[in-house]
Amino acid sequence: MENFYARIFDLACKGWGKTHPNPMVGAMIVEDDEVVAEGYHECAGSPHAEVIAFSNLGRTPREGASIFVSLEPCSTFGRTPPCTNAIIQSGIKKVMVCCLDPNPEHSGRGLEILKNHGIEVTLAPESVQARFTRLNFIFNHQIKSGTPLVALKIAETSNGMVAEKAGHPSPITEAEARIDMMNWRRLFPAICVGAGTVLADNPSLTARIGRETWCPVRLVVDSRLSTLAPGVSPRKLYFDQFTDHTFILTTTSLTDGQCIQRAEELGVKLVEVAADKDGRMLPTSLRTVLNKLELNSVYCEGGPSLAQSLLVADEIDYLFRYRSPKFFDSPDALAAPDLDQYELREPVQTILGEDRLTHGFL
Ligand SMILES: NC(=O)c1ccc[n+]([C@@H]2O[C@H](COP(=O)([O-])OP(=O)(O)OC[C@H]3O[C@@H](n4cnc5c(N)ncnc54)[C@H](OP(=O)(O)O)[C@@H]3O)[C@@H](O)[C@H]2O)c1
Repeated sequence: MENFYARIFDLACKGWGKTHPNPMVGAMIVEDDEVVAEGYHECAGSPHAEVIAFSNLGRTPREGASIFVSLEPCSTFGRTPPCTNAIIQSGIKKVMVCCLDPNPEHSGRGLEILKNHGIEVTLAPESVQARFTRLNFIFNHQIKSGTPLVALKIAETSNGMVAEKAGHPSPITEAEARIDMMNWRRLFPAICVGAGTVLADNPSLTARIGRETWCPVRLVVDSRLSTLAPGVSPRKLYFDQFTDHTFILTTTSLTDGQCIQRAEELGVKLVEVAADKDGRMLPTSLRTVLNKLELNSVYCEGGPSLAQSLLVADEIDYLFRYRSPKFFDSPDALAAPDLDQYELREPVQTILGEDRLTHGFL
């Protein structure tokens, strides 16, 4: 059974970062202990995994066949008809469900509908359910809270530093951890950094995995438009092939001005956000912008000032904390926010070469 769970998990993961605002889902038809057809949800608006699996089978399932679904089949009409209908119509009599629908209003309903049609429904053991539920933590958060998920990533040295010298890029982690970060970047529809990071690191903020370069919506929090100031050489994310993915969140009024003209020339979009008492972005504005742009989550890569503001304002839902064995002892080193004070819920630890990642809910 574990082999089937592992296979359907990988199947669902084929939709990694591509299904927003929908969850990643896989479905697999099994006859005589053999997988005879499979399907996964590719992107919002495309057919659901169960429907694809039946279509790939291309015939009526044999007697005794079962269908594995990574998530409880939907029981309501959305952009597509409910998957419970597709299962009932297929004539299949056994359904193995890896985890429940996170929506408290629907959870368990799909299972009940199937049972009422004489279908044997088996819910996976709790440890398996936990793994499959966690896979869709972004979707689950949005469904349960009605707000986008704000995740923060910080990479720090063993003595809690994020840069050897403020204003300069400093590699903290090694290759394995950097590959891992790219993978998480790929999961989120948006990425966010503060002006300090754009000025210091000149990042592209794309996810580079193998030969694929993918660009999320890039949000730069820059109250005074200092990243566009005269004398600042154009930052990569303002003139690369993905410039139309870049938004600057600013508290500067969007009336005529040199920086605003420069943004227009570059094709970068400006979004005016509410200011705090110091004229910086009010931390709650980040979620307002995500809602406005219909984004269900963001991977915020700091830097430390923006991270601290979001943490203090209780605007972070999920933390990715990378720790390297390096030690920056220079008096110019820049400290990360004190993350030890936060206890993560459902923490997951991963060893990545010399580095470690701990991630979980705040
Ligand atoms: N190790 C890591 O994980 C990591 C990640 C990123 C960056 N870094 C390093 O961090 C350094 C940059 O640090 P930083 O703190 O200057 O970067 P930052 O947090 O990216 O940017 C800070 C700037 O964001 C703007 N901002 C707008 N609203 C804000 C708010 N509510 N709260 C805080 N800031 C707000 C402010 O500029 P305005 O007032 O002009 O808007 C502020 O100066 C670089 O050396 C970089 O290499 C390390």
